[in-house]
Amino acid sequence: MTAPTVFVLSGPNLNRLGTREPQVYGSDTLDDVHAAVQREARDLGLVADCRQTNHEGELVDWLHEAVDVGADVVLNPGAFTHYSYAVRDACAIVTTSGRSLVEVHLSNPATREEFRHTSVVAGVATGTIAGFGLQSYLLGLRALV
Ligand code: DQA
Repeated sequence: MTAPTVFVLSGPNLNRLGTREPQVYGSDTLDDVHAAVQREARDLGLVADCRQTNHEGELVDWLHEAVDVGADVVLNPGAFTHYSYAVRDACAIVTTSGRSLVEVHLSNPATREEFRHTSVVAGVATGTIAGFGLQSYLLGLRALV
């Protein structure tokens, strides 16, 4: 049997991890996150397809692709979390198709600025994991098995 594929998607500015506000996001780079995700996925019997984009439409396209190929999703929407109804609607397409989508955040937005307290994605996600740094992504993968 072939291992199920999981899309592990990251939104805007996450390509700057490592140097972006390290006091908030830590010193791991996105490559470090993806390497840890690949290791964890292998251990869990999954294949992780890791991608990052700074562009809302591209993220929407990838969420549609997840539905088309039947992949579950671990998603860090970055700042899109707080205001992108387009990303929210695409996430709803994933979860109403019967796939799982775990919203993950490195930081805990609930402890930060007021505008980060709202997630427009949370209401259509299968679940949310926030505040555990790189581990949030790994816990997101675990939640899928
Ligand atoms: C983030 C939290 C968001 O508020 C922020 O805009 C990000 C990263 C996180 O992983 O903690 O870009 O999603």
